[in-house]
Amino acid sequence: MNFDNIKTPAYVIDEKKLKENLEILDRVQRESGARILLAQKAYSVYQTYPLIARYLTGATASGLFEARLAHEEMKLSEQDDHEKKIENHVYEPAFEDDEMEELCNICDHIVFNSLNQLEHHRKTWESAVRDGRVSVGLRINPEFSTQEEHEIYDPCSEGSRLGIKLADMPDELPEGVEGIHFHTLCEQDFEPLKQTFHHVEENFGKFFPTKDHTDESANDNNEHGSGRKIKWINLGGGHHITREDYNVDGLITFIKDIKKKYDIEVYLEPGEAIALDAGYLVTTIMDIVKTERMPVLILDTSAACHMPDVLEMPYRPPLRDSEQPGELEFNYRLSSRTCLAGDIIGDYSFDHELHIGDRLVFEDMAIYSMVKNNTFNGMPLPDIDIMHENGKIDVIRKFGYDDFKNRL
Ligand SMILES: Cc1ncc(COP(=O)(O)O)c(C=O)c1O
Repeated sequence: MNFDNIKTPAYVIDEKKLKENLEILDRVQRESGARILLAQKAYSVYQTYPLIARYLTGATASGLFEARLAHEEMKLSEQDDHEKKIENHVYEPAFEDDEMEELCNICDHIVFNSLNQLEHHRKTWESAVRDGRVSVGLRINPEFSTQEEHEIYDPCSEGSRLGIKLADMPDELPEGVEGIHFHTLCEQDFEPLKQTFHHVEENFGKFFPTKDHTDESANDNNEHGSGRKIKWINLGGGHHITREDYNVDGLITFIKDIKKKYDIEVYLEPGEAIALDAGYLVTTIMDIVKTERMPVLILDTSAACHMPDVLEMPYRPPLRDSEQPGELEFNYRLSSRTCLAGDIIGDYSFDHELHIGDRLVFEDMAIYSMVKNNTFNGMPLPDIDIMHENGKIDVIRKFGYDDFKNRL
């Protein structure tokens, strides 16, 4: 991997690694029968969508603009199997009235966050459902937290606005609703998903159709529930399926079991897992400032502007050829050329002295980076490059002053 000749700062997408991730996800689809969608909120480098479309079922959007992007770009390329249907899904806590018509024209699934929203837009979506163009779902809130580490990413935390809680769910599925969606996980393995699903089954099971009518709970459900049952369930994102230690076989068996027990389609919509470890942020040292603590590197990138999750989550991004502070001889604080005192990426140690002009490579930078960056301080946005499987790097996007000015 040679990043010596590219202009920095630059996000570099690693096509080979992206493909490896997609192959794992494709195996999950083939062996379990699940349908997997790219959650574009994590990764929206649409120039790679034809590659993603070759493996996945489609994309999901956080609103109209992402839905439009997938509609325009999540397409197979010429040489691919054009029989394959690419799906476009959308969920948002609230939709504008003038967005709903377009969403009904470009989306296959629309998921509402509340009964208010469902009913508010009913007139518009109902005709699309009648024509067989759209399937409508409700997001539920399982009220079952499985992580404490990242409260900001826990939709089940107290007072959450995300999803309908059991107490607010009607006894019968509202007319026209065909699916249930939940999203509760963040960078988690398969066990928390299994626990959450069992909890959902216990609480919302009356909406699930059962294949086995001799099953006792199925009879209970049929007694108490209406005839209206879900046709699909969407298990959201947060599944770190492509992480090396993820229990992929466990997930496959689990989904097969759901499909065996209930006559439903199962969707997963991971974001991170698609482009996990499939991108870098390459930066150059512009200056080194001596301080009473340790030398501070002024980089041509910024946590606040180019990797906001580092401050928001927060986390210390992996950096190639470095260790934790104190482990190697040469210690530096990595920072930025913005005015924000706290724009600090982290402390790292190296086995050699660093100099102005040296390049550093942050890893795992394809996800929640480009989709969240900003031009605070008038900071230029990094280029977006793609490194092909043969190692050749192409610049796919450059940004300049106009990109800064046009946002204001
Ligand atoms: C509704 C929904 N689906 C999918 C995702 C993707 O999650 P991840 O990127 O952690 O897999 C998110 C992330 O916030 C989400 O809110």
